[in-house]
Amino acid sequence: MPTLMIVLVLAAGLTAAACDEKLSKLAGPTPNLEPTFSSIQAQIFETTDSAGRRACIICHTNVGRNPSGGLNLVHDGAYDQLVNVASARKPGATRVVPGDAENSYIIHKVEGRPDIVGVQMPLGGPYLTDGQILILKRWIALGAPRN
Ligand code: HEC
Repeated sequence: MPTLMIVLVLAAGLTAAACDEKLSKLAGPTPNLEPTFSSIQAQIFETTDSAGRRACIICHTNVGRNPSGGLNLVHDGAYDQLVNVASARKPGATRVVPGDAENSYIIHKVEGRPDIVGVQMPLGGPYLTDGQILILKRWIALGAPRN
């Protein structure tokens, strides 16, 4: 019986490792993207990736202008502009709801769902890949931690 337990624990560990490996393949133009805020900030918000998807901070910055959509995604400010913060344009929507990617407005915006106010992000495209969005969702599902 104990042997069976060990085998089961090992199998569960391997499955988790396999999932993470798949995640990095899914991340496409940002292969090192991880479901952490610092990784998403550096590789999605602040970087134009190899597939030509533009950095969000081209528009979502307060440097020299008002940030688009009232949302500043520049370093240090971004987390407090997103998590548990109401949308500036869609009444009742919250930009990021910790633990609930489905109801996080940022996901509706990057997926271009029919319920959004305005247009799909990044404005004008190219849009995020399915893998990039999956990783963003996973960070939210994990409770949207600050790091
Ligand atoms: C070329 C400019 C531009 C780029 C690049 C861009 N945005 Fe936007 N964004 C806007 C504008 C303008 C609005 C306001 C109009 C609207 O909601 O469609 C907006 C609105 C939003 C909103 C809604 C804010 C609210 O409170 O309602 C979110 C969320 C958002 N953007 C996320 C992103 C993310 C994430 C990226 C990068 C993946 C991104 N945007 C890239 C211009 C841009």
